[in-house]
Amino acid sequence: MKIFSWFKAKKGYLSERDINKNLKAKFIGKHIVILDIIDSTNMLAKREAEKGALNGSVFIAENQTAGRGRLGRTWSSNEKDCILMSILLHLDNKEEINTSVYTLAFGLAVSNAIDSITKKNTKLKWPNDILINNKKLCGILCERFSRNNKNYMVIGIGINVNNEKFEDDLSNKATSLFIEYKNIFKREKIIAEVLNKIEEVYIDADKGKLSDIILKYKEKCISLGKNVELTKNNQKIYGMIEDISNEGELITSIYPNGKIKINSFDGVEQYIY
Ligand code: BTN
Repeated sequence: MKIFSWFKAKKGYLSERDINKNLKAKFIGKHIVILDIIDSTNMLAKREAEKGALNGSVFIAENQTAGRGRLGRTWSSNEKDCILMSILLHLDNKEEINTSVYTLAFGLAVSNAIDSITKKNTKLKWPNDILINNKKLCGILCERFSRNNKNYMVIGIGINVNNEKFEDDLSNKATSLFIEYKNIFKREKIIAEVLNKIEEVYIDADKGKLSDIILKYKEKCISLGKNVELTKNNQKIYGMIEDISNEGELITSIYPNGKIKINSFDGVEQYIY
């Protein structure tokens, strides 16, 4: 279609200069690497941590050959349509931090960043899938790791921005900003806003404002009150999602009268209905 080829022509490669125009964050994004293609920006962030990459370094790629999702899934992407990026955080002196709750906080920050660009409301599915109209717009893979006796966290973010369509099996589950709002979005603006909001929430979390963050998270979370099927090591448990604790755990009541708490690193698959 003619209109789509005009839109395509408008899609360019990412520019660091354009990201910096809207970047207010102080340490996140001070060092930005943009590559055409890489295996996975999360894996790159880990390799670069080993070589001494700065706290808050950001690794972005136009495409990935081995994009990774949660629970060992793959993450596929289209060149120049998506945001594929990873933020490296040094966790020195933060051995005690509860990375599960930070995972939720980062999901909230990305959701708020997207809302501030689109002036619409995204929703969150525990732990940090971002949805529009019940379809997945963004996935986040937070990983903790150690290199040379130092602890790190990488926040890997995949946002479907200007994708025009998804293949059959994904079309019922995935969406993009373009599909929802029929508008081409400038990815650099979204990247800058995501970095601004992640730094904001990280500083707030450091100041001990985690329960405020969880409260705001719950306002956007569609998982609460839903029936759920949880799977771990091929074992299934059925229950109802009751609450999210201040530690970021999903509190699920189990039929007939039990209760379990799972955190985002427990490797539990959940299907809500
Ligand atoms: C999920 O929902 O399963 C998480 C998806 C995370 C995808 C992003 S894309 C950038 C970064 N690099 C990766 O390999 N994965 C994350």
